[in-house]
Amino acid sequence: MVSYKELGLVNTREMFAKAIKGGYAIPAFNFNNMEQLQAIIKAAAETKSPVILQVSKGARAYANPTLLRYMAQGAVAYAKELGWEKPEIVLHLDHGDSFELCKDCIDLGFSSVMIDGSALPYEENIALSKKVADYAHQYDVTVEAELGVLAGVEDEVQAEESHYTRPEEVIDFSKRTGCDSLAISIGTSHGAYKFKPEQCTRDPKTGRLVPPPLAFDVLDAIMEKLPGFPIVLHGSSSVPQEYVDMINQYGGKLPDAVGIPEEQLRKAAKSAVCKINIDSDSRLAFTAAVRKVFAEKPGEFDPRKYCGPARDLMEQLYKHKIINVLGSDGKAC
Ligand code: G3H
Ligand code: 13P
Ligand code: ZN
Repeated sequence: MVSYKELGLVNTREMFAKAIKGGYAIPAFNFNNMEQLQAIIKAAAETKSPVILQVSKGARAYANPTLLRYMAQGAVAYAKELGWEKPEIVLHLDHGDSFELCKDCIDLGFSSVMIDGSALPYEENIALSKKVADYAHQYDVTVEAELGVLAGVEDEVQAEESHYTRPEEVIDFSKRTGCDSLAISIGTSHGAYKFKPEQCTRDPKTGRLVPPPLAFDVLDAIMEKLPGFPIVLHGSSSVPQEYVDMINQYGGKLPDAVGIPEEQLRKAAKSAVCKINIDSDSRLAFTAAVRKVFAEKPGEFDPRKYCGPARDLMEQLYKHKIINVLGSDGKAC
């Protein structure tokens, strides 16, 4: 058993309470490799933003669970080396799909886990989420649970259409599970294709797709039922068109990729939404930078020469999110 406290990590409890009071949101960035982790830590350290390092089941399988845990431990040391005196870093399991996986992460030093029972029938979701919360709380690990289904692919869970969270269920769900935060469905979804073209309008000037707004009425109703309770938004990448254009210009093919407009995320961040999940934007930045190097320097075969620019572009992206979208800069000095 490794306690996250020994690793210098923190759980989300105090972080979320401060974020709700302060009207900002904590960035939850997924990572799978060293370059992403370096970019996240550099961005957080330089902006003094609390940060959640998210690891999916797939990321654990890709990078190796033990190595990932040591990378997170190294991240705390790296943050201090960068001059961040009191780094506030959470190591979080993203979309845990079983009690065993959550337990394994808790036992290996994660400070927060998500149990995603959103595809299960209501009572089964409650039973599973409660089992995880009961175990996690013995070790002061915080738990995110999910109610409502996001459209798109949720790890191995495929949902054709999203089912918005039902505000009438959230009090019962949060009380009976004992979860510390609640991921909700209000129109966001995973990946770089969040809306079908037929769900959008087109900007006549640019020809770009303009997505429909998020269901803020559902968010308001949830906040009314659970005043001050931490809410989480998954699927919150904005799919920056500059990266999509770069990818397409340098040989990629991402037609009509579309995300959540940043002004909607800014609005959400000011509410009880205190954790905003971003993964796809970082994948796009990485891919755009790598494609550019490959296209411009076909003779290049040193990975540092293309992963380096990818890392720089991701760092720029993370800083932009922290400062201009979530407003979490300067909140963890
Ligand atoms: O919500 C899912 C995250 O973007 C992680 O995706 O399962 O491909 O690592 P992944
Ligand atoms: P995006 O695909 O919008 O980046 O969402 C990431 C996410 O929700 C991770 O859990
Ligand atoms: Zn997610």
